[in-house]
Amino acid sequence: MDKGKKFYITTPIYYVNARPHIGHAYTTIVCDAVARRKRLLGYDTFFLTGTDEHGQKIERSAGAAGTTAQKFADSVAAEFRALFEKMGITYNDFIRTTEPRHKQGAQELWKRLQEKGFIYKGTYTGQYCVHDEAYIDGATPGDPCPDCGRITETVSEENYYFKLSAFADKLLKHYQQNPYFIRPETRRNEVIAFVKGGLRDLSVSRSTFKWGIPVPGDPKHVMYVWLDALSNYCTAVGLGSKEKEEQEKFERYWPADVHMIGKEIIRFHAVYWPAFLMAAELPLPKAVIAHGWLLFEESKMSKSRGNIVRAESVIDVMGNDALRYFLLREIAFGQDGSFSFDAVVQRYNSDLANDLGNLSSRTLTMINRYFGGSVPYPSPLVAKRDADDVIRDQAQNTIAEFNQLFDEYQFNRALECAWTLVASVNKYLVEQEPWIVAEKEGEENKARLATILYTAAEALRVVTALAFPVLPESAAKIWVQLGLGDITRFNLADLKWGQLPLGGKLGKVEPVFPRADKSTIERMQQMEQERKPAAAAQTSTAAAPAPAGEGARPGQPATQAAHGPTEAAPAAKAAATAPDGKISIDDFLRVEMRVGQVKHAEKVKGADKLLRLEVDIGSEVRQVVAGIALAYEPEKLIGRKVVIVANLAPRKLRGLESNGMIVAASIGDEGKPVLASFLEDVPVGAKLK
Ligand code: MSP
Repeated sequence: MDKGKKFYITTPIYYVNARPHIGHAYTTIVCDAVARRKRLLGYDTFFLTGTDEHGQKIERSAGAAGTTAQKFADSVAAEFRALFEKMGITYNDFIRTTEPRHKQGAQELWKRLQEKGFIYKGTYTGQYCVHDEAYIDGATPGDPCPDCGRITETVSEENYYFKLSAFADKLLKHYQQNPYFIRPETRRNEVIAFVKGGLRDLSVSRSTFKWGIPVPGDPKHVMYVWLDALSNYCTAVGLGSKEKEEQEKFERYWPADVHMIGKEIIRFHAVYWPAFLMAAELPLPKAVIAHGWLLFEESKMSKSRGNIVRAESVIDVMGNDALRYFLLREIAFGQDGSFSFDAVVQRYNSDLANDLGNLSSRTLTMINRYFGGSVPYPSPLVAKRDADDVIRDQAQNTIAEFNQLFDEYQFNRALECAWTLVASVNKYLVEQEPWIVAEKEGEENKARLATILYTAAEALRVVTALAFPVLPESAAKIWVQLGLGDITRFNLADLKWGQLPLGGKLGKVEPVFPRADKSTIERMQQMEQERKPAAAAQTSTAAAPAPAGEGARPGQPATQAAHGPTEAAPAAKAAATAPDGKISIDDFLRVEMRVGQVKHAEKVKGADKLLRLEVDIGSEVRQVVAGIALAYEPEKLIGRKVVIVANLAPRKLRGLESNGMIVAASIGDEGKPVLASFLEDVPVGAKLK
């Protein structure tokens, strides 16, 4: 393979403290589309993804789930891998940071940094955000993390430091000389401003917990999880290996051409990572490209906000291509974009079922009907019209424009341009009326019909080839229906007008995009509900920092058991109006929480997870239906004091009216509810604030 034509692309490696959701799927789909296109263009493409499995956050999540960190990581890593398989992701390697090959490579990188004199020992006392695994400069005890809002923890430890301060000028020079190193422009400016603000040395080891890669020569310390994680991009392609084959792989693929990431981790990739590489005298990646966030109900989709949607809910009902197309067409790449089931269905119906689906089925059906399933010969003279040339020229321009936009990572605009061609060809068919021409007698009419259908089929071929990286399953089907065989064997670099073999036999023509309707949305919503950990356990208020203390650790916000599967807490709704997910104290005060005492408890017939409770809240006894039956025996709850959200609008669950919500933590991936309670005795009816 020609070394000049290699292409190495990476996703971030995903934390295993949360199960995969559509946000993770988004980055992976973007990379998959880029990788597929590069392969079709003839590049020797290497596409890497994987999981980030070390660090205190994972150690704590595993502890909360009552298992070991390794078992916890094994199970979530397997879920990521299974989801990517199901989504048809064509990754070449899936690296896990707990694999020996990675540990060895990460230690090799450490040794190089040390040998070159960029690592020294010092003492760090300051604030640390466990959720983001980041030291927070300038923060004082009790301060929230500026990125995620969770309360930072004070740590004081003897650490190894990396001389990041030595790299500010070199980094700035690199950004200046390589204007495309960080994209988009807004992120580039943000990074430049950060580096110009001065760089302090970075603490790169921890000794207060064990779940990490031991520091070479000083195993009391483990490597800082970001140094460990970032090195995956090199270790996966052979850094630190003694095997000749692996060493050659490193030579061939490193440096990466693209690190695709979410915007929140730009600093790690565009400042720390290049500085580590410069220090180790390794080449730098060619580009770090940051996309925006997928928002759901207006705030960033994340486990801690409790507003995640699983990719499976869309792909099981609508297929992989529907999700891919939506994400790449709907979101202006680089910016935040909203996700909703309605929007997916709308986009699918208009662009795929209607536009491309109609073009493909009517063109191919007519070729079957009027030309016995063989691609007709267009007539260059007799039956030519200007309209045919307009389509040809537009198709040729579309190829050039699409290629440029896609290669600039402007996926939505590239697809928009291809679909403008689809719309033009559909309009052309309506105007040229092949179905009427077909009814007319004579050679000239036959020739005209051939020209129209050839033009439409050839345009369909062009759009299908361009759209393949985004719609791999459907494009492959249309390609076969066009009689062209295996699309992955096509060389996209050769794409131009006029390559559809004349007289070629079509494949079996079948609809590719069945229309979606209201029930499609309902099925997706239903799947999402069924996948929620406990039917009634809801994650609590968006972005509210978890109170420290028993049952609510940093990174694990308290959860509320049970008002009902679809009802979000009022505070969560209010919070949804703030773009950064934060709520005001007034929003919080709108939620009336009181101490209640359970007077009566029983199982709800036909609902495994629900209990019917009668709760005394001082002023009255309320009926509350709570999703806690799997964790609590009804008899044991009688007399127990609980926290109840008292001003929630009533709603019916299994025919029973529920007047309030019991507050509980939600533990582990199964969301096991643990009721909030007090160490001191508190009177029934007392207000929480
Ligand atoms: N483990 C680190 C990355 C280390 S890379 C050396 C990490 N992991 S993560 O699981 O929290 O997030 C990984 C990536 O998932 C994000 O950078 C982003 O690409 C993607 N997303 C997670 N949530 C997302 C959205 N709501 N929207 C879009 N992308 C999201 O950070």
